[in-house]
Amino acid sequence: MDVASEAALEAAALLRSYGGNSLTVEEKRPGDLVTAADRASEDLILKILRRHFPEDVILTEESGQQGSAQGLYAWMIDPLDGTTNFAHGYPFAAVSIGLLQSREPVLGVICDVFRGDLFRAGQGMGATRNHKPIQVSTTKELSHSLLVTGFAYDRRETPDNNYAEFCHFTHLTQGVRRGGSAALDLAYVATGQLDGYWERGLSPWDIAAGIVLVREAGGKVTAYDGSPVDVYSGRLLASNGWLHSAMQQELAQVRPLPVSFPVGGIPKQPGK
Ligand code: IPD
Ligand code: CA
Ligand code: CA
Ligand code: CA
Repeated sequence: MDVASEAALEAAALLRSYGGNSLTVEEKRPGDLVTAADRASEDLILKILRRHFPEDVILTEESGQQGSAQGLYAWMIDPLDGTTNFAHGYPFAAVSIGLLQSREPVLGVICDVFRGDLFRAGQGMGATRNHKPIQVSTTKELSHSLLVTGFAYDRRETPDNNYAEFCHFTHLTQGVRRGGSAALDLAYVATGQLDGYWERGLSPWDIAAGIVLVREAGGKVTAYDGSPVDVYSGRLLASNGWLHSAMQQELAQVRPLPVSFPVGGIPKQPGK
């Protein structure tokens, strides 16, 4: 926990030091950005973790996996969660460091880059923000809730793009936010400032830390259908627990949009 906290805090400080500087931004695919700051943050975290845990597997968003997959422990690192926000100077981004033990998330540290908040949780140890205990909300009705979600970078190519779910929950609740950082979305479910979260197209580094936070703050995290969550499955439903089965039922009711819209709009017919 101490090593992960040190790495997250140092990486967040490094990311803040990019503020105001012109940033090198590349597109991995349309709308999917990576910046020099993502890479620098990742290098820093890797250096710290490797120094302390040379045996462990480390999976990072930008460099992939290092170490043998046979290891008991695997670190899931998102060096900058909220790259799109960061690249536009919108101050909502995080560093997320999670630890899996036999594929099960057991430790999570998330640092809010711009507010400086440090969220931490360990299995059976509770969850904290800046060393003070946090707890999920007690909202019991969807009609009184504030939810959060996100849209994966493949949303242009797939009819399963979360648009229908977003509209559906927007009708049923006091609002649905799109924070732009899955790690912070989960952290705010853990603090009770948001009541629930769902998303598809996620990677393990987006959610490993946040899952531990929500659970340790008294919330529930499962697959969309309520079955045990697998961090590699890409889908997640997290809530304060009270709203979980209602969210599960609504997700089951919503069908993905029947058509996908081609990138660049509808192709022109020949001769038109
Ligand atoms: C993204 C953010 C976003 C979520 C996307 C993620 P990145 O991570 O967490 O909120 O909707 O699915 O890929 O690329 O900014 O690290
Ligand atoms: Ca991410
Ligand atoms: Ca990232
Ligand atoms: Ca990314």
